[in-house]
Amino acid sequence: MAVTIPVKEFAERRRKLMDRMAPDSIAILPAAPERVRNRDVLHPFRQDSDFQYLTGFGEPEAVLALIPGREHGEAVLFCKERNPEKELWDGFLVGPEGAIERYGFDDAFPIADIDDILPGMIEGRSRVYYPLGKDPAFDNRVMDWLKVIRSKVRSGAHPPGELVALEHLLHDMRLYKSAAEIKVMAKAGQISAEAHCRAMKRARQGGYEYNLEAELIHTFMEHGARSTAYPSIVGGGANGCILHYIENAAPLKDGDLVLIDAGCELECYASDITRTFPVSGKFSPEQKALYEVVLAAQYAAIDAVKPDNHWNQPHEAALKVLTQGLIDLGLLAGTLDDALANESYKPFFMHRTGHWLGLDVHDVGDYKVGDAWRVLEPGMALTVEPGLYIAPDNTDVEPRWRGIGIRIEDDVVVTKEGCRNLTEGVPKTIADIEALMAD
Ligand code: GLY
Ligand code: MN
Ligand code: MN
Repeated sequence: MAVTIPVKEFAERRRKLMDRMAPDSIAILPAAPERVRNRDVLHPFRQDSDFQYLTGFGEPEAVLALIPGREHGEAVLFCKERNPEKELWDGFLVGPEGAIERYGFDDAFPIADIDDILPGMIEGRSRVYYPLGKDPAFDNRVMDWLKVIRSKVRSGAHPPGELVALEHLLHDMRLYKSAAEIKVMAKAGQISAEAHCRAMKRARQGGYEYNLEAELIHTFMEHGARSTAYPSIVGGGANGCILHYIENAAPLKDGDLVLIDAGCELECYASDITRTFPVSGKFSPEQKALYEVVLAAQYAAIDAVKPDNHWNQPHEAALKVLTQGLIDLGLLAGTLDDALANESYKPFFMHRTGHWLGLDVHDVGDYKVGDAWRVLEPGMALTVEPGLYIAPDNTDVEPRWRGIGIRIEDDVVVTKEGCRNLTEGVPKTIADIEALMAD
């Protein structure tokens, strides 16, 4: 998949990171490793999100080194060399020259030479930033490079004194999405919305959950989104109450709801949508009653996504509406304040109302700064996904409610005025869902 984010923007991100690094430091970041699925078969390659963010370079077996002030170039890539024979089997390689020409690196070397070259680049730098502890194999390689430098101290070499996790600097940058990133995320949201519409229209009694999963994948692929952002959840009936249900193999029954939580990945950016709709195309009275509560909670939470509100405000807004709704329907006893204080809503709503969204579906970025919830700012992207789940074996409620699981999830970006919904292309009111399904 071609990357539409301009080469210049990747260079700017590298510049910004270097400006935040301590003087006399170096940052080292490896590409994702390839992983074996089974004999002779690899998992589809997915670039490491941090590496993607700083390079846009889609190959494995590559390492980025950022060396502020280096005379022969600050942004250095080690990557596979071009090799016509290998490329005949496995496809095109960019190669070091291509990395400079097409990806805007200042300097590039064959990855096969990294052990000879990189220790010399680390030598004399006081601090090394890298993804400390993320991958034991890479930790060992860093230690090997440091050992090379230490073995030369008697000849005057200066090994670095500090190893520092790179994530803290980098993940704060990733939290604020640029206009180009928002454009890609909006496109991913649009494709996923279309996929959900297709699944809604094609749901039928006698079909299986995986039939709807196939409809989703069809639309993703049709638009060039070759991967999902996470395994799709298609849960009919009580399976909708299992938060991470991915078996997707049960028959769909008339009278049941089906909960679909699915989103495509585009240029490594995630989308993440949940919709819940009746297999038959018509909500029952109990389904309707619970659905209206979840929808009202979602609207309340989206209203609370705006600059100067903090991270937890959308969650608090949703929680209030959900809990009051449960009380009004006779599913919870007591007052709203009591129920919120003693968390009696928890058997029905046990997860958070959202998460950051970006290159990772559960994206990076701190939710608290010190002890305080993070204040929302334009460019932050998040999901809004309240739900209600009445366990099939919950004998505290009347049988007519049991086994209903509902979640409604959209992706939003904070704007100056409030937020922009990237996934509004798929209906979520009862009237609109019933109309689409009747179509
Ligand atoms: N699909 C994962 C989530 O909603 O968080
Ligand atoms: Mn989701
Ligand atoms: Mn989500």
